[in-house]
Amino acid sequence: MKIAYFLCYTIKMVVFKFSMINHWERSMCAFEIKNLKLSVNDNVILDGFSLKILPGEVHAFIGKNGIGKSSLAKAIAGHPAYKIQGGDIVLNGERILGQSPDEIARKGFFLAFQSPIELPGVSLANFIRAAVQARLPRGTPLNGVDFYKNLYAKMEALQIDKSFTSRPLNDGFSGGEKKRCEVLQMMMVEPKYAILDETDSGLDIDALKIVSNAVNAMRDGTFSAIIITHHNKLLEYIKPDFVHIISDGKIAMSGGLELIDRLEKFGYGFIHDEHTL
Ligand SMILES: Nc1ncnc2c1ncn2[C@@H]1O[C@H](COP(=O)(O)OP(=O)(O)OP(=O)(O)O)[C@@H](O)[C@H]1O
Ligand SMILES: [Mg+2]
Repeated sequence: MKIAYFLCYTIKMVVFKFSMINHWERSMCAFEIKNLKLSVNDNVILDGFSLKILPGEVHAFIGKNGIGKSSLAKAIAGHPAYKIQGGDIVLNGERILGQSPDEIARKGFFLAFQSPIELPGVSLANFIRAAVQARLPRGTPLNGVDFYKNLYAKMEALQIDKSFTSRPLNDGFSGGEKKRCEVLQMMMVEPKYAILDETDSGLDIDALKIVSNAVNAMRDGTFSAIIITHHNKLLEYIKPDFVHIISDGKIAMSGGLELIDRLEKFGYGFIHDEHTL
């Protein structure tokens, strides 16, 4: 009897300890934006913007055109034109303000651009290969055979034709092809934190499902993401943990997918109506 009690007690303690470690790891690895003040060309775009994302969580941002969603994404990525005048951005417990885009990327961050730029002269495969290589510890060689095997498998999953590997990055790509290639890059560099800025725009209905499945496949409990969108279709497939409405320089309202239904019914005016009630 005493032995059974002792065993039971030991198992309980072990389970408790593991759940505490898990909880501690999750809260330690937060991707956090603290009271951010952001300006572009001396115009303040965001002020008092705060958000905490735990590993494994997917958050969706919606907000009117020109409200500052892409500016926030680019500021996090380290774009020098977007000036952070106050507050903090913390990745995995480490402040990233002032770090260069490549340093931030090496820390596990990835941004899928709303308007991907064209790079004539650099093939898609070489671009991705350089990005994957850059994330390896210095001096670690990248096995070319393994790289192409992985690349072709991911291209197949995203239904991107193999011929794209030798095409100059985004040069002459259709809108949807550019967006698929942004997701391909994300899948290849395997980030811990990603922002997908209107990746759904320009995708046809089938491509939307393919891309959503690819994003969902990355959700392994440690991958955190912000999905910026104007449409509910992508969010229906991806099912974010939280939806945030951005307004007046900050998060005006947070909730679940029901927020999108309310937006569709009442428009953005309902946020102010609720605040003034
Ligand atoms: N490099 C820049 N130079 C000047 N103004 C800029 C720059 N980048 C952004 N802005 C301005 O900052 C504001 C926010 O732009 P941003 O692209 O962040 O909006 P958004 O919320 O992503 O909009 P959308 O939903 O249309 O993509 C806009 O008024 C935009 O014109
Ligand atoms: Mg934008």
